[in-house]
Amino acid sequence: MQEIMLKKFVEVFGDKENKELFFTPGRVNLIGEHIDYNGGFVFPCALSFGTYAICSKREDNIFRMYSMNFEKDGVVEFSTDKLVKADVWADYCKGIVDIFIKKGYEVKNGADILFFGNIPNGAGLSSSASLEVLMGTMVRDLNGLDVDMVEIVKIGQMAENQFIGVSCGIMDQFAVGMGKEDQAILLDCNTLDYKYVPIKLEDVSIVIMNTNKRRGLADSKYNERRASCEAALKDLQDAGVEIKNICDLNMEAFDKVKHFIKSDEALVRVRHAVSENVRVLESVESLKANDIAKFGKLMNESHISLRDDYEVTGKELDSIVAAAWDAEGVIGARMTGAGFGGCAVSLVKNSSIDSFIKYVGERYTKETGLKADFYIANVSEGSRKLGDL
Ligand code: GLA
Repeated sequence: MQEIMLKKFVEVFGDKENKELFFTPGRVNLIGEHIDYNGGFVFPCALSFGTYAICSKREDNIFRMYSMNFEKDGVVEFSTDKLVKADVWADYCKGIVDIFIKKGYEVKNGADILFFGNIPNGAGLSSSASLEVLMGTMVRDLNGLDVDMVEIVKIGQMAENQFIGVSCGIMDQFAVGMGKEDQAILLDCNTLDYKYVPIKLEDVSIVIMNTNKRRGLADSKYNERRASCEAALKDLQDAGVEIKNICDLNMEAFDKVKHFIKSDEALVRVRHAVSENVRVLESVESLKANDIAKFGKLMNESHISLRDDYEVTGKELDSIVAAAWDAEGVIGARMTGAGFGGCAVSLVKNSSIDSFIKYVGERYTKETGLKADFYIANVSEGSRKLGDL
């Protein structure tokens, strides 16, 4: 791939001396869905596929960028003096530069950058967070800024919230920035405290199932879900319940105060958030105790809660997950990411992977008319420079 990218770089930008190669992965979330923005725990890991960039520093403040995934957009050029959203892929990169500047960092040097990503687009595996954190990593290095990865992660989330206009939580940027080989991250989204938990499973693989149903309308529905939770939090606080986040409640506390939540819809959304947070902690405990069957059961319960209470699954995700539940060798399966299409994740015994893919693939196609893709996840390192070219 590097060869093809290099060739393209020279074709688009001409030959340059100082070329560096950077990489930021995608992520899959094992459990803890739609609770990062409710101050809950999440348990994602970084993948081996992601976004690559060949970057050549410029002495002026101009960025010229080209994506091999969006060739028809040609070279997108902007300077740090004028950062305006233009509804192209490069907005994610502009947003990063914008937030660096708004936070008071001096971005003097631009760059010529060629991107290539192998994360399936719009599949809920964080192709946008990958691009954001990749850009953040390059802007830091280009300008010699003293910024650690957690700060880049925060800048990524701010860019998505403020520049792009999607009120996402911090999970995706954190996972792709801070991932570790063969480890999942238990992240407390309230404090940003985190722990790595080994996820190299004996005889079992993480199989990602792509419904190939694009996440249409996902952003607006995502913002709606978030607004429901915020409204419920306000109802509870107005009634004197002393919490800062929805996930400060455990199930028992939720049962005691739920009558203060004014809308029925918000009530079931909160029930998902509170129960999901409990499931994350239980699932990490079960992993530590080598009780993988329990982990799988919690994954299944997570899907049911996302389907019935949070209502972010839809027919394709429900179909593929139900097929996975019935397949031989499955330990557990659930949707992953924002939902409304995109991917589901399952744990499958290595000896059954082939039959699992065949069974789930055929049944899914029969039920939906769509063809699913399957990937075996390799849990990998977060955002980094790969080397000089
Ligand atoms: C998207 C968002 C994340 C998180 C998930 C749902 O991926 O970017 O912040 O909220 O949805 O868990």
